[in-house]
Amino acid sequence: MKKRVAILISGRGSNMEALIAACSDPAYPAQIVGVLSNRADAKGLEFAASKGILAYAIPHRDYASREAHDAAMHEALLALAPDIIACAGYMRIMTPGFVEKWEGRMINIHPSLLPLFKGTHTHERALQSGVSEHGCTVHYVTAALDDGPTIAQARVPVLPGDTPESLNARVLVEEHKLYPMALAMVCRKD
Ligand code: GRF
Repeated sequence: MKKRVAILISGRGSNMEALIAACSDPAYPAQIVGVLSNRADAKGLEFAASKGILAYAIPHRDYASREAHDAAMHEALLALAPDIIACAGYMRIMTPGFVEKWEGRMINIHPSLLPLFKGTHTHERALQSGVSEHGCTVHYVTAALDDGPTIAQARVPVLPGDTPESLNARVLVEEHKLYPMALAMVCRKD
């Protein structure tokens, strides 16, 4: 049976699009049951809705605290009854209490070869540090930022003359292949 997957986004949603595209294959082990965003202007919401997927925002600015926003996200997720939650550019630090409720069932894609370059501006930092390889990681979400167990990684070379933008573009191509593959692995695991 297909696993029910909810996706969390904050913006463009290109990884979300890659996951939605993968789900159009009848043999793919997941179906997307909803897309939630913490920002009403997240472009990805329009795309998901255009594919007939329930997609809406729970704006964090409407809540007095991070805990209150996470509680609202949690309630919305419960209504979707997901087996797996896939964070795809969800740019919110989540409270430990929220993460614990979904631990083992929440995954994320991060644009670096973790444990290198946790946090933001990963491409700039990779270039500054002089690494010869960079990439992306799909991992389980734990309370510590970008720190949970790795599910899969993809590597790209850092080339002479690379800028953060050129490196980002090279990594993003890999993200769009890695995330559907890693989600399928997680869905088939149990
Ligand atoms: C991606 O680089 C992802 O790795 C990071 O945020 C970016 C989201 O891009 N977590 P998109 O919204 O999926 O296009």
